[in-house]
Amino acid sequence: MRMIIDTDTASDDAVALAMALNHPEVDVVAITTVAGNCSLEDTTRNALYTAELCGSGVPVYAGADRPMLVEAGFATWFHGMDGLGDQGYPTPSRSAEEENGVSALIAHIRANPGSTLVTLGPLTNVALALVQAPDLARLVGRCVIMGGAANTVGNVTPAAEFNLWFDPHAARIVFASGLPIEMVGWEICRGEAGLDATERATLRALDTPLAHFFLDCNSTALKASRQQSGTNRLELPDPTAMAVAIDKDRVVTASSRHYVEVEAESPLTRGMSVVDSLDVTGNPANAEVVQAIDTDRFKQMISEAARR
Ligand code: BDR
Ligand code: CA
Repeated sequence: MRMIIDTDTASDDAVALAMALNHPEVDVVAITTVAGNCSLEDTTRNALYTAELCGSGVPVYAGADRPMLVEAGFATWFHGMDGLGDQGYPTPSRSAEEENGVSALIAHIRANPGSTLVTLGPLTNVALALVQAPDLARLVGRCVIMGGAANTVGNVTPAAEFNLWFDPHAARIVFASGLPIEMVGWEICRGEAGLDATERATLRALDTPLAHFFLDCNSTALKASRQQSGTNRLELPDPTAMAVAIDKDRVVTASSRHYVEVEAESPLTRGMSVVDSLDVTGNPANAEVVQAIDTDRFKQMISEAARR
């Protein structure tokens, strides 16, 4: 599977990147970075660092450093000031490519028709690319989006999940673009999908550099989740989307196609993913909405990635 990944690399993005970069059947042709969890400089450095840990020379391109129309609102309170749990990781030896992430997205999608585009961050780069090159919508084979919350509670406001909230105008463009979207909302990583204390200990016991990295860089996120949702499980939204992208047949246990629209203007519901679950609008479906995953298979994929 050929894959292009757009990411605001912080702690859970890093795990998702490693799942793809280390997978024998996935060929990641490019990574583009975007501002979101932290600044573009931080997300780009974190993507490069993660690629280096995986022994990958995949090209990394820095894209948009802010949302299209609203001000940036980072999530450093959740992922740490550097996005990777402030563990003091060294500076990666490689730098990002010269080319901008938006033009790189256009070029790589055109050069790899039918490839899978996985988005793990705000949709700014993808929207800007679509505005410049609407033909991308029919060139992408699958577009797996970690974003939204399918008519359920948000994590940054009661109504919205972070990636869509951060750049709601971009998200609106992407959902209306005709891309073959598979939406993996925030609710999919919650509950049983989160790694409990025993599962974290089992992962730690693998004693590989990546097992330690996965847990250490997410230590701030775990503390923040405890405070926000009162859970002692490590919730990993981007890895759930990556698991769907890599092994959909075994991972997705329920999904359905719906019309999904993103609210961009209302201060109360900015970034809300409104899923027409009962088809009351009559608008044609524009996304396959993942409703449930096999959490055991998902966790197995995390541990497989940590072992490679
Ligand atoms: C999403 O927002 C970020 O904090 C995570 O990296 C993930 O992409 C979850 O809402
Ligand atoms: Ca992310």
